[in-house]
Amino acid sequence: MRKIVILLMGAVVTTMFAMARKVEITTPGTTLLLSAPEGGSLKYLYYGEKLKATDVKSVIEVEKAKNDVYPAYGLSCQREAALAVKHSDGNMTLDLRVAGVAEKKETDYTLTRITLKDKEYPFTVDVCYKAYSTVDIIEMWSEITNGEKKAVVLNQFASAYLPIRRGNVWLSSLYGKWANEARLCEEPLNPGMKVIKNKDGVRNSQTAHAEVMFSLDGKARENTGRIIGAALCYSGNYRLTIDTDESDWHHFFAGINEDNSTYNLRSGETMVTPPLAVTYSNEGASGASRNFHKWGRKYRLANGDKLRKILLNSWEGVYLNIKESEMYQMMEDIASMGGELFVMDDGWFGDKYPRNVDNSSLGDWVVDKRKLPHGIEGLLAEAKKKGIKFGIWYEPEMSNTVSELYEAHPDWVIKAPKRDLVLGRGGTQVVLDLGTPKVQDFIVGLFDDLMTKYPEIDYVKWDANSSIMNHGSNYLTADNQSHLYIAYHQGFENVCRRIRAKYPDLTIQACASGGGRVNWGVLPYFDEFWASDNTDALQRVYIQWGTSYFFPAIAMASHISATPNHTTHRSVPLKYRIDVAMSGRLGMEMQPKDMTDEEKDLCRRAIADYKEIRPVVQHGDIYRLVSPYDNKGLASLMYVDEMKQKAVFFWWKTEHFYDQHFPRVAMAGLDATKSYRVREINRIDKKPLAFEGKVFTGEYLMANGLEIPYNFDLDWHKRTDLCSRVLYLEEVK
Ligand code: DGJ
Repeated sequence: MRKIVILLMGAVVTTMFAMARKVEITTPGTTLLLSAPEGGSLKYLYYGEKLKATDVKSVIEVEKAKNDVYPAYGLSCQREAALAVKHSDGNMTLDLRVAGVAEKKETDYTLTRITLKDKEYPFTVDVCYKAYSTVDIIEMWSEITNGEKKAVVLNQFASAYLPIRRGNVWLSSLYGKWANEARLCEEPLNPGMKVIKNKDGVRNSQTAHAEVMFSLDGKARENTGRIIGAALCYSGNYRLTIDTDESDWHHFFAGINEDNSTYNLRSGETMVTPPLAVTYSNEGASGASRNFHKWGRKYRLANGDKLRKILLNSWEGVYLNIKESEMYQMMEDIASMGGELFVMDDGWFGDKYPRNVDNSSLGDWVVDKRKLPHGIEGLLAEAKKKGIKFGIWYEPEMSNTVSELYEAHPDWVIKAPKRDLVLGRGGTQVVLDLGTPKVQDFIVGLFDDLMTKYPEIDYVKWDANSSIMNHGSNYLTADNQSHLYIAYHQGFENVCRRIRAKYPDLTIQACASGGGRVNWGVLPYFDEFWASDNTDALQRVYIQWGTSYFFPAIAMASHISATPNHTTHRSVPLKYRIDVAMSGRLGMEMQPKDMTDEEKDLCRRAIADYKEIRPVVQHGDIYRLVSPYDNKGLASLMYVDEMKQKAVFFWWKTEHFYDQHFPRVAMAGLDATKSYRVREINRIDKKPLAFEGKVFTGEYLMANGLEIPYNFDLDWHKRTDLCSRVLYLEEVK
């Protein structure tokens, strides 16, 4: 007998299917089909392209529901599990049965909650799905509740598990290190276990990333082929595991990294695991990226619907040598080039201990009046005079043993009892224990003080330059020391949530020694991220390419810096540096007083043009065309606005030899029936390109592309190696 209970909660209808047999979860282009017999096991039936009603019916009849949706340990011990626990009586097994399905429709999504109850123990797991009606993303997570009288130990507690049918499946993932973040790695999935993980404690995207794509049709192509993409929305240690066993399936598990994080779930407590955002696209890797970007901008990224300002950041210009006169001069320069914001980086603070090198003062967030006699007031007044906004750098989760903060609160830092501190940057950096409510209040208070005193502050660069190197919390009980990493990130999120609730319009950048915090866990609280400390434009093509797999251009801070580059020491033409920076959130990161008038003029023109193309780059759809990782000697991508009326095409050489033969790049994403006028942006050639101002149909451009000259047409002494082009396409009616 099928019992349906309908509860009316305002406009929301909640439906309980006591005898639900199938659960159909849909987005505009995808279907996730589960078998959920009351009292039976919850099983996967299908995930992929949207199913028609006829197919749903047949799939249910034909497909053998083989894989549990949330495999639990104990009664089929030989398989990998999403959940493994030790009950209060020592029993290590779970027998989870479907107890109910609830569906809640909201304006933009449907939330489906399938409750699994253990057959014997008062222990439940809600498997949750948030399926969007506007974009092909389903967020999946679990909520684990201990109804037993005593604590249950959680040894494994994945957010989600997804079986992927074996065949010719390839994995695309990102890995790297400081200054070489988000390298794209593409590999076939072979038998055995592939583990992608992070254990930094603070930053989680500088080594490997918590996002992957599975190409179901061999090595991923950019604009064709079936892709399943997954992004774990979490800021802390994570683990993605793909187990290819003797079955027909790759078993994909994603969640918090349980290593040294065994969790004691109190009686009555619920653990809510971080969501795994999953997408499916039959338009290749770029299609999956577009889904992530659209979802991110609309539902996850702070202020994803607003355009970002063009800024100058002081770091590579002056490093820690902050001087008032130079700050004023930098403001003058960026304002004169058309920039909209100046950000003062590290080095502005510390009273008893001035921050002259990186070995002191974190936590002492008072202006160093020796460097800035007129304080933040002076900087704000100067910015106002120049007609730009002002932003400032902080590293609020950290301290140094050489600081007034540490002297006052040595117990606030993460440290193991009876052990000497293992110290980070500068030989003195320590991490504050964010699991501690007092530390959380301290950080929120910092923002409150700043924004109350200086409400005109427009931007904060939030940095984090240390791993957790000592395992130990003064706040957690001895029994719960294994909660350290989880508590840190709960605390971090708490702090971010409080700050964001109070200051929704403040622009906040997630920086963590470069690209250490590029994840969808932090982005609801941050407007953007710093993709890497490496600003070398050529290497940035690779870094930004990988990053763009999961993160939109609007959030990807991308700065024009000096040459030779401070990290790679490579000399790259200014035009190329500009053309790369313009493919993300454009900014500058250099001392403009070292630039020639001609260079400033090129930047001024680029900034003016960026203002025109900004909505397309920051809110448009990405179509990656030629990957730098394919070693064709060039890379190319484009952004197209939603109405397909405007597009920006980027083309960068990635190597330079005499007598090269590059492929001609066909465009994508345009409307075949529309006509577009082509205009080159940032032109430095003596003569316009042959197609300048000409009109082509979308059909022609997508079939043939344009013949891009390989080198700049310049006087002999001005010639350079790396050439690049930016083309702006506008519909002609
Ligand atoms: C690391 C960041 O990535 C840099 O941009 C800069 O802010 C430094 N920290 C400052 O210490």
